[in-house]
Amino acid sequence: MKYPSFCFTFATAILLFPFHPSSADSPEKFVQCLYNYPHITNSISNVVYKKSNSSYSSILDATIQNLRFFNISSKPQVIITPMDVSHIRATIICAQRHGLQIRTRSGGHDYEGLSYVAGVPFLIVDLINLRRIEVDTENRTAWVQAGATIGELYYRISQKSKTLGFPAGECPLVGVGGHFSGGGYGYMLRKYGLAADHVIDAKIVDVNGNLLDKETMGVDLFWAIRGGGGASFGVIVAWKIKLVSVPSIVTVFQVTRTLEENAIEIIHKWQRVANKFNESITMKANIERVNSSKSGNVTVGAKFESLYLGRVDDLIPSMQKSFPELGLVREDCTEMSWIESILYKAGFASGESTDVLLNRTQLNSLLFLKAKSDYVRDPIPDFGLERLWHFLYEDAAKDAYIQFTPYGGRMNEISESETPFPHRSGYIFHIQYRVYWQEKGDAAAQRYINWIRRVYKYMEPHVSKSPRAAYLNYRDLDIGTNNNGYTSFRQASIWGTKYFGNNFNRLTLVKTRIDPRNFFRNEQSIPPLTSNRRK
Ligand SMILES: Cc1cc2nc3c(=O)[nH]c(=O)nc-3n(C[C@H](O)[C@H](O)[C@H](O)COP(=O)(O)OP(=O)(O)OC[C@H]3O[C@@H](n4cnc5c(N)ncnc54)[C@H](O)[C@@H]3O)c2cc1C
Ligand SMILES: *[C@@H]1O[C@H](CO)[C@@H](O)[C@H](O)[C@H]1NC(C)=O
Ligand SMILES: *[C@@H]1O[C@H](CO)[C@@H](O)[C@H](O)[C@H]1NC(C)=O
Ligand SMILES: *[C@@H]1O[C@H](CO)[C@@H](O)[C@H](O)[C@H]1NC(C)=O
Ligand SMILES: *[C@@H]1O[C@H](CO)[C@@H](O)[C@H](O)[C@H]1NC(C)=O
Ligand SMILES: *[C@@H]1O[C@H](CO)[C@@H](O)[C@H](O)[C@H]1NC(C)=O
Ligand SMILES: *[C@@H]1O[C@H](CO)[C@@H](O)[C@H](O)[C@H]1NC(C)=O
Ligand SMILES: *[C@@H]1O[C@H](CO)[C@@H](O)[C@H](O)[C@H]1NC(C)=O
Repeated sequence: MKYPSFCFTFATAILLFPFHPSSADSPEKFVQCLYNYPHITNSISNVVYKKSNSSYSSILDATIQNLRFFNISSKPQVIITPMDVSHIRATIICAQRHGLQIRTRSGGHDYEGLSYVAGVPFLIVDLINLRRIEVDTENRTAWVQAGATIGELYYRISQKSKTLGFPAGECPLVGVGGHFSGGGYGYMLRKYGLAADHVIDAKIVDVNGNLLDKETMGVDLFWAIRGGGGASFGVIVAWKIKLVSVPSIVTVFQVTRTLEENAIEIIHKWQRVANKFNESITMKANIERVNSSKSGNVTVGAKFESLYLGRVDDLIPSMQKSFPELGLVREDCTEMSWIESILYKAGFASGESTDVLLNRTQLNSLLFLKAKSDYVRDPIPDFGLERLWHFLYEDAAKDAYIQFTPYGGRMNEISESETPFPHRSGYIFHIQYRVYWQEKGDAAAQRYINWIRRVYKYMEPHVSKSPRAAYLNYRDLDIGTNNNGYTSFRQASIWGTKYFGNNFNRLTLVKTRIDPRNFFRNEQSIPPLTSNRRK
């Protein structure tokens, strides 16, 4: 089975997942607290979904992106879909009074489902109704509410300007709430850095129910939520972002090279040049199953996918000079507008209306998915690449891929401590491992998850060490978890230094100041320094 892109998946499997039953707290008191809460602007009873509500399941399922966490028994007691800040404030206060944990969900793309699954009694604050976007072309800024998707943001920008864009991810349904707070990158990474690097103001409701902006939250908290993840600090309501210039015409291409076509030699060179190209070129390399152009048989190949912020006439000579081994020709390339390149990268057919970026309707079902990440400082030797190739011939890898994203360019110019996201200069590329499957049941899940764990173990000598760095937005509970959100600094520093390097300490200080009793917590939330015990 072949998928149209990484962004959308189709399948029909349903899984009954093992679960940890939560205690049978009645949510009634919590709901009464909400109803009695003073100073509510819009009626709150319209945004409260108890389990008995006939819309509860469809709201819960609407943005689940991974079958591993679909229809599992650890469900929220209540789902709140706030229309305004007063609803968020009341929810935060009442949840503390009545012992419910909060999981905040924007786009629902968390790889481990942390925005909608918890092993304790909890509720979901689902920001589906908070997705207003105001684009100010004169000042080249926008206010984006946290429940908006990046596709909606790209669409709104393109409606107002053909030469403004935003450097965030590839898949249109990703939510800005999680994405920007964890970093967020896409095909303009080398030119502009991360989405989080372009956040210039934010609104967040803290544990006391206060709405804070950049001025009132203080520099530390404003620093923390631009790469440190939002979930440890409060509920982010909106971001103000700085837009970036894009040319009216950009160039995209996708070329595949198999082993017979010298894939290893080409990746050998790619590792040395892709991070040094003109920063207007971001060329990813995916290792995955492909059709051999010679035999037509399925084999493993390297797929080079690229965006150039310029015209094909400039790209071809530049590639012929710096990367002749790829053999890129004009026929491989297509010129289009920046917004069309967004549709192209998301896997939509050419000529599709940009309106599809506003369509949040999920396909009825999904696939099972597990992912991991790594960072590379020195090129992987050819024998290492060859062995990696073998992993992709295994049965478990039929719907897997390993994606290399080049760093360099703007990423080299931003210091490690500028934001909590520390993976800047010194890294030549980033790796994402992803495996999909559609067979239900634990045995199947174990087979595929074992595959990706074996690949990860195999890669150890070839990737960054001490710490072995990882990307927060590619959440991976294999690298360590907190127990129900409670943990010691020492335990958390294992995954904490992988995601945040030396910034982990500062994140714990911010957490200690902003949420000392550790109300906002999950399996990988930043611990406050004072809380290493259960309450
Ligand atoms: C199909 C797919 C494609 C992806 N493509 C890219 C890509 O191109 N580039 C990239 O960098 N990443 C990509 N990712 C990873 C993505 O950036 C992260 O999963 C991101 O955290 C998703 O944000 P979300 O709002 O959709 O997720 P959610 O699951 O809603 O949230 C993720 C985390 O953030 C917290 N959170 C969400 N909203 C808020 C809020 N308003 N306030 C406080 N905390 C909040 C949640 O509680 C959770 O811990 C992709 C993921 C998937 C599944
Ligand atoms: C479900 O919840 C919504 C929002 O609170 C409410 O408008 C609706 O009447 C409820 N439906 C049922 C059947 O309880
Ligand atoms: C969800 O799981 C329940 C059991 O927990 C099962 O009865 C129901 O059929 C499942 N629903 C779907 C849509 O798979
Ligand atoms: C641009 O910013 C200035 C200063 O903040 C503001 O006065 C002006 O209204 C903004 N322009 C638009 C179109 O909003
Ligand atoms: C290979 O090509 C065939 C026929 O075009 C197609 O059905 C199949 O999905 C392709 N497989 C891959 C892995 O691209
Ligand atoms: C392609 O697959 C066919 C059928 O499995 C096989 O007969 C043929 O040898 C393969 N060709 C190559 C070049 O591997
Ligand atoms: C790099 O890209 C910019 C923008 O397209 C262009 O002006 C410049 O000439 C390019 N430089 C090289 C060396 O290709
Ligand atoms: C949104 O996409 C779904 C799935 O592709 C499709 O069935 C539906 O018609 C689309 N809705 C609109 C309004 O275009």
